[in-house]
Amino acid sequence: MSTLFIGQNKVFLPETLSTNSYAIELLKKVNAIEGTVVYTYKQTQGKGQRGNGWIAEPQRNTTLSLILKPGFLNSKNIFYLSKITALALYDVLTEILNDSQFDIKIKWPNDILVNSKKIAGVLIENSILNEVVQWSVIGVGINVNQKDFGGINIATSLNLLSGKEYDLELIMELLFDHFEKWFLRLMKSDLKLIDDTYLKLLFKLDELSEFEQNNTRFKAKVVGVDESGLLVLEMENKSQKSFDIKDVQFIF
Ligand code: BTN
Repeated sequence: MSTLFIGQNKVFLPETLSTNSYAIELLKKVNAIEGTVVYTYKQTQGKGQRGNGWIAEPQRNTTLSLILKPGFLNSKNIFYLSKITALALYDVLTEILNDSQFDIKIKWPNDILVNSKKIAGVLIENSILNEVVQWSVIGVGINVNQKDFGGINIATSLNLLSGKEYDLELIMELLFDHFEKWFLRLMKSDLKLIDDTYLKLLFKLDELSEFEQNNTRFKAKVVGVDESGLLVLEMENKSQKSFDIKDVQFIF
């Protein structure tokens, strides 16, 4: 293992409701150090984005939360945490699925898709005081050895893609390496590299796609993500509009 601080302090839980909730409790109770990872192979009430759950078959998937204290980050730049997490996951999956048949993309804001199916999700919870990020809990779920998603045809796993079984610990270590690399770039304010790489990997960039807002579907083109993390769409009348994750859903 070659990281300086990410994953140097590990908390393994044989079973827990949510690694994110446990990590937040740790921060509040014992002020856990930066880089601490909380992980389990049996998460029973995993939290997802938009108030959804995250279901992961026990012993077959990676479910972890990283504790960060990015005091250098102004809250207006908080979306960079989403970007670097997605980029780290992209690098992990690219290293494992090293084959051109696999098209790996970042679906705004930070889902990872392989061949248009979701393989990993991210839920980031933060504490912000006077515009400074006090702490962040980066929750990551990766579908690893799970073969059956109960008919959910938009999900996939490493095993379904490659037919191989993976060591969950090794995947976690790979994520620590790649996450730390991107986090150090963020610390050095290498924002252009982060922005350019993220944009290049965006799912359906410059393609006409379908979206839903308030139960109404519309077609638009993804043209970028603005500095506060809003998705910028070019509408059919060629005007540009920015959307929050709460307001718009990708139909794919
Ligand atoms: C999503 O795509 O909706 C986000 C899913 C995030 C799931 C991970 S699993 C580990 C961590 N603990 C949680 O309760 N959620 C995140």
